[in-house]
Amino acid sequence: MGIEEKFKDPLIGIIGGTGRMGSWFADICEKRGYRVLKVGRKTEMSMEDAAEMCDVVVISVPISVTEDVIKKVGPLISEDALFMDLTSIKKRPIDAMLKYSKAEVIGLHPLFGIDIEDRESKKVAICSGRGERWNNWIIGLLKGEGLELVFLTPEEHDKIMGIIQGINHFETICLAMRIKESGIGWEKIENASTQTFMRKLKRIKKMFHQDPELFASLLMENTWSIKCIDSYMKDARDFFDIISKKDKERFNKIFLSIRQLIKGDQNERDMG
Ligand SMILES: NC(=O)c1ccc[n+]([C@@H]2O[C@H](COP(=O)([O-])OP(=O)(O)OC[C@H]3O[C@@H](n4cnc5c(N)ncnc54)[C@H](OP(=O)(O)O)[C@@H]3O)[C@@H](O)[C@H]2O)c1
Repeated sequence: MGIEEKFKDPLIGIIGGTGRMGSWFADICEKRGYRVLKVGRKTEMSMEDAAEMCDVVVISVPISVTEDVIKKVGPLISEDALFMDLTSIKKRPIDAMLKYSKAEVIGLHPLFGIDIEDRESKKVAICSGRGERWNNWIIGLLKGEGLELVFLTPEEHDKIMGIIQGINHFETICLAMRIKESGIGWEKIENASTQTFMRKLKRIKKMFHQDPELFASLLMENTWSIKCIDSYMKDARDFFDIISKKDKERFNKIFLSIRQLIKGDQNERDMG
């Protein structure tokens, strides 16, 4: 079968297809009428067999085992096939897909949580790895699902996620830890909350009802997260110095410089 034919009727193998994100991807492929093989550790179909048979091979396993799985299946994937992943970090999985296979490579990161009602963003980050022949196929599939695509290099992605996932989740966990350690009690704080703070409490509730493994990986497996959090803590220490010394001049300087940054964005949007 020529590659043009494969675009019309690809056999898709999802390694981690029995999991949350893998099932989401399987659903959108099945809705299109594509044939999908969902592979887990206990399925009859092994990951090696799926890798050999399929025209599109998708990796959607926990971040901590992603590179090992890619190393196992990569050499078995055909040169004409598309090798993809749905991992929340991009640089290491894409490098591994390039290294261990000869297939075309595209990295995806769905920018929404599966366990929570967080679909309003409807965005997917997409990073090119190797080749272009499958680009229209994957773009068509995702756009057909109403998803907005954010094109990034793997490095840009991980750097940005150092803030969006790294600092953000770190902050939320630290706030939750402080609420616990304060001994005041969750309900008392909730009762006295402003609307803005209620949104923060809601985020904490959502986060702590999810799988801790996911957040541990997001904070620990993206090297940019560690770097970003380290810089953030230095900023926090500087800022603490400013407020504890009641240094209004430095406070205002920071405040105005950040207002300037936000203003810049606003101008860009107006122009766009
Ligand atoms: N969940 C989210 O909200 C979310 C959002 C964006 C991106 N992601 C990304 O999606 C990927 C999967 O996350 P998930 O939340 O869907 O995880 P999950 O629900 O725990 O599913 C993990 C899948 O991987 C399989 N698996 C587990 N350990 C394995 C191993 N050692 N070898 C081979 N297969 C293994 C599991 O199969 P079994 O059936 O054997 O358990 C299952 O199918 C991650 O890379 C994550 O960063 C997740």
